[in-house]
Amino acid sequence: MLEIKELKKSYQLNKQKLPVLEGIDLTIQKGEFVMIMGESGSGKSTFLNCISSLDQPTEGQVILHDQNILVFKGKEIENLRLKSYGFIFQDNHLIPSLTILENIAIARLQYDKQAYEKAKKLADQLGIGHLMNNYPHQVSGGEKQRASIARALINDPEVLFADEPTASLNPNTALEIMRILQELNDAGQTIVMVTHSKRIASYGKRLLILVNGTFTVNESLENYPAGKERYSRVSQLVEPYL
Ligand SMILES: Nc1ncnc2c1ncn2[C@@H]1O[C@H](COP(=O)(O)OP(=O)(O)OP(=O)(O)O)[C@@H](O)[C@H]1O
Ligand SMILES: [Mg+2]
Repeated sequence: MLEIKELKKSYQLNKQKLPVLEGIDLTIQKGEFVMIMGESGSGKSTFLNCISSLDQPTEGQVILHDQNILVFKGKEIENLRLKSYGFIFQDNHLIPSLTILENIAIARLQYDKQAYEKAKKLADQLGIGHLMNNYPHQVSGGEKQRASIARALINDPEVLFADEPTASLNPNTALEIMRILQELNDAGQTIVMVTHSKRIASYGKRLLILVNGTFTVNESLENYPAGKERYSRVSQLVEPYL
């Protein structure tokens, strides 16, 4: 579904070139749950941003359904971000002056009269249906992150990108969020996620480890039953690098 070819990205800093991604080839199929790990500064966020239209790579192609999204302009990029892609970040990025309901619905209001109904339904599914009229500062960190998941899902995205979505949460709340993401994936949602935690990574079905600008490890976890066995497999794969 999502095909990444020879992806390179370097930053220019004080006239010096800093190479971050050094030629990445990767295919992500519908329904996958891909976990990306790597040292701090290895380029995980850069990679996620480059394949999700938030940043522009230096070279390469990112093909979604036979179309190279890197040549998209204006309205095409807007539509891609709005309808094909969903985003969750470490910080929830909710708009403080809007209620939880409005925050969830906002990306759908402009073209769907039923946007609020859809937002309410999602909120119910995510266990925050009773908080619709609260403002972000009136709900907990975990509830805010649930709201940002609902917001990311409002347009039924083909791919959900998540950059350390549990990093600001306490361990129990983080696991609750992971269970939600796992349920979404079980229902067919494609997810590409970055994490620093082995425990969190063992909720994924495939593990990528970014080392020196490429994915040195690219392994399916599906043969390892979720739980202890998958966690030990992740630990084993991560051990030489992190
Ligand atoms: N806009 C920028 N300009 C210059 N250098 C940048 C820019 N953004 C990121 N970098 C550098 O690129 C490298 C990769 O950054 P990136 O944020 O992708 O790492 P990361 O793996 O997500 O790290 P972390 O785990 O800390 O979030 C780092 O060395 C960073 O300093
Ligand atoms: Mg990062």
